[in-house]
Amino acid sequence: MPELSPIDKAKFAAAKRAAEFVEDGMRVGLGTGSTAAWLVRCLGELVREDGLRITGVPTSSRTAQLARDAGITVVSLDEARWLDMTIDGADEFDGRLNLIKGGGGALLQEKIVATASDQMIVIADISKQVETLGAFPLPVEVIPFGWQTTKVLVEETLIGLDVLGRECGVRMAGDAPYVTDEGNYILDLHLHRIGNARQLSLVLNQIPGVVENGLFIDICDILVIGQADGRVAVR
Ligand code: 5RP
Repeated sequence: MPELSPIDKAKFAAAKRAAEFVEDGMRVGLGTGSTAAWLVRCLGELVREDGLRITGVPTSSRTAQLARDAGITVVSLDEARWLDMTIDGADEFDGRLNLIKGGGGALLQEKIVATASDQMIVIADISKQVETLGAFPLPVEVIPFGWQTTKVLVEETLIGLDVLGRECGVRMAGDAPYVTDEGNYILDLHLHRIGNARQLSLVLNQIPGVVENGLFIDICDILVIGQADGRVAVR
């Protein structure tokens, strides 16, 4: 294996430590993104080499493929119904364990799966830590039908809310909007600072074309933070 970059060493350290929370027989939600991919690889190794028996519920088609390739039994959330835990990455976390997620475009399945779990464990490198959420653009998943109208409604809704910026763009993949696993689009909101994340989340989700937003408020239970030197903090 080639030498890992410092950021990958930190992500790997967090993922490896979080894998220790997983016990035999558990149903585990598997997050999406590069940190979650390390987790899937770590769990796959435990399955193949230590005989760990788990059932994985992936949060994206990418993670489903990765988990199958790693030798993890994969089922849908409807088959599993309820999960012992979900382990996933984050784009930002604050001191109250609130998060911004969705940089990888999988926020909808990630929120559904995390909410259907006894525990959500977030794995991240230390660079994701912030005082106040909002430096990372907030992803908002919207229905393609009338999305430009939805975008205007989102921008108007931001007026008067406790945010520093209001620029809003549709996420692109080449020349066309990026399409999520559910066939939706993503608006990225450049808010810079989110003063009241709970209020913002509730208000955004009241707009008819909005499916879900990337604010995870009171969903994460445990944070596992990795550093490049291999040190890990659990909060
Ligand atoms: C995907 C996510 C990811 O967890 C988030 O983007 C972090 O990704 P990475 O681990 O690659 O930094 O929310 O929708």
